[in-house]
Amino acid sequence: MTAFKPLVFSGVQPTGNLHLGNYLGAIRKFVALQADNDCIYCVVDLHSITAQLVHEDLKGQIRSIAAAFIASGIDPEKHIVFNQSAVPQHAELAWIFNCVARIGWMNRMTQFKDKAGKDRENASLGLLAYPSLMAADILVYRATHVPVGDDQKQHLELARDIAMKFNLDFRDKIRASGTGVDILVGDEPVHAYFPMVEPMIEGPAPRVMSLRDGTKKMSKSDPSDLSRINLMDDAETISKKIRKAKTDPEALPSETEGLKGRPEAENLVGIYAALSDRSKAEVLAEFGGQQFSTFKPALVDLAVNVLSPITAEMRRLMDDTAHIDAILRNGGERARARAEKTIAEVSDIIGFLR
Ligand code: TYM
Repeated sequence: MTAFKPLVFSGVQPTGNLHLGNYLGAIRKFVALQADNDCIYCVVDLHSITAQLVHEDLKGQIRSIAAAFIASGIDPEKHIVFNQSAVPQHAELAWIFNCVARIGWMNRMTQFKDKAGKDRENASLGLLAYPSLMAADILVYRATHVPVGDDQKQHLELARDIAMKFNLDFRDKIRASGTGVDILVGDEPVHAYFPMVEPMIEGPAPRVMSLRDGTKKMSKSDPSDLSRINLMDDAETISKKIRKAKTDPEALPSETEGLKGRPEAENLVGIYAALSDRSKAEVLAEFGGQQFSTFKPALVDLAVNVLSPITAEMRRLMDDTAHIDAILRNGGERARARAEKTIAEVSDIIGFLR
C-alpha cells in the first residue's frame, strides 16, 4: 500500500484586516508546520470576489496578506507563497469539481447560509460554488494536510466528499492512467487519484471568540473594532482592547473543567495559551485562583511581545511592494509547475483531448 506524499496547503482571503483569529487559527500554525513539511500558502484572491465583487484596493490587500505570512516567519524560498489567480489551474479544477459536487452539498454549507443571508437567490453563483474552488485549491497539488480554524471544518469535509466521488466515479480510468495511489478510507481500500485531506484544527485556539461576546467568533465583519485585535493594531490599542474585553467576576479556575460555561474566560485563556505555545491546562496551572485584574495585564504583555514585531515587519514589507510582488511571482511560477501536472493527468483521466 503506497501513500500520498505529505504536503501542507492552506489559504487566507485578502479581505479586510487580518485579526488574532486568523493569526492563531491559521498563520501561526503555518509557521510551525514549516520545519517538518513541504508547505504551500496561498492568498486566495479568487475567493475574495465571491461575497463582494468590487474592492477598493484588492492588490494592496493581497500584498498585505503576503506580508503577514512573511512577517510571521513563513520562508517563501523553502516553501511556496503565492496568490491564487496567478495559477489558473485552480479555477480549471474548480470547474471540474463543480461538475462532481452536487447542488445539495453546497446548499448545506453553513457559511453559505450565513453569508447569503435571507436573500439567497441574489447571492453570487461564485458564493454557492465557493467550497468547490476551495477543494480545487488543495487538490490541484494533491495536498494531504490543511491547517485551518474551526470555521473551515465543513468545507474540508466537502473537499473529502468531492475527492471521494471523483476517485470512485473515475476508478477504472484512474487505474488505467497509472497515476493513482492505493489508500485506505476507513477499512476500505480505494485506488485514489485525490487524497482524503486531513484538517489540522487542533490547538488551544481553533476558534478565537469576540472580545465583546465569548459566544461569537472573532471576525472581520463584526461592526465593533473592540471585538477583535487586528494584526496592524499598535501596542496601545491592543492593551485597550484587552483591558476592555468582557469577563465575568470570578477568579480563574485552576483546571480546564472550571472554564465550562465561562466563554469569555475560556477565550482569553485559549488566546494566552496559543500565544505562548502552551496548553490551557498549563496556563491555568500558573494563573488559577487569580483575578482578571492580574491576568489581563499579563495577556497584554504577551500579546504585545508576540504581535508587535510582526506588525513592524509587515509595515516594513508593505513599503517595498516590488519585493512582495517578486516573492508572489516566484511562488506563482513554482506553484503553476506543480498544478499543471495535476491538470494534465486529470484531463487525461476524464478524457479531454489536449
Ligand atoms: P479566511 O480568510 O476567512 O480565514 C483565514 C484562516 O483564519 C481562520 N480563522 C479563524 N481561526 C480561529 N478563530 C477565528 N475567529 C478565525 N477566523 C478565521 C480560518 O479558519 C482560516 O483558516 N475559505 C478560507 C480560505 C481558503 C482556504 C482554501 C483555506 C480558500 N481555499 C484552501 C484552506 C485551504 C477562508 O475564507 O478563510
